[in-house]
Amino acid sequence: MRIYCGKDYEGASRIAANIISAQVIMKPDCVLGLATGSTPIGTYEQLIKWYEKGDLDFSAVHSINLDEYRGLKPDNDQSYRYFMNTHLFDSINIDKKNTFVPDGTEPDADKACKDYDEIIRSHGGIDLQVLGLGHNGHIGFNEPADSFCKGTQCVKLAESTISANARFFASADEVPKEAYTMGIGSIMQAKKVIVIVSGEGKAEIVKKAFLGPVTPQVPASILQLHNDVILVGDEAALAEYYKAV
Ligand code: GLP
Repeated sequence: MRIYCGKDYEGASRIAANIISAQVIMKPDCVLGLATGSTPIGTYEQLIKWYEKGDLDFSAVHSINLDEYRGLKPDNDQSYRYFMNTHLFDSINIDKKNTFVPDGTEPDADKACKDYDEIIRSHGGIDLQVLGLGHNGHIGFNEPADSFCKGTQCVKLAESTISANARFFASADEVPKEAYTMGIGSIMQAKKVIVIVSGEGKAEIVKKAFLGPVTPQVPASILQLHNDVILVGDEAALAEYYKAV
């Protein structure tokens, strides 16, 4: 695993954006696996700036997002489709037809998951997967569990995830209780993975995920077995990791 440390959130975001840019420049028709959450917002802002300068062209890029709340429509301002449109897609020249987010409005969970696995398969997998990290070690919405899930699944969100994400909703009661998420198997099949972490709130879980035992109780720990993972963080998020190595 390679680790890059930025001084602060902005610094880490710039490093992450550089890595994504390199991917887009080296392979203009690449498949990007994209993430939501507050962490990648700075990275997306930086990509938009470089696009506006004329340094990046997303016209041939395809993107496949990690997850979506079950039951939210794309125009709901808390849906991850809405997040991606407003934080990235609306500001770059990606063709929206080439951007994929699980269909939160599909009531048939089996169908929603199978359809999404078919989208991933038909794209030949993911070239670069961007990940954030949940406080309990979740990636996408793959919550701590007894086993690693291979394909897209419908998950019950952990109480800690619901309270962490409640800050975006009017109250915790409004946070959907379920989500569709790309499986750990698909994430592990991505050719390259970049995990972005920021803030001291992530310091303990970063240490646990990347130095602790590989266990489905800490879903991100499986990334220790991936042969091309880049961890990008700011000093605060990487502090406990650095103390322990
Ligand atoms: C959500 C998303 C994850 C994200 C996590 C961390 O639960 N499903 O993909 O990594 O939040 O979010 P944040 O970056 O806001 O800490």
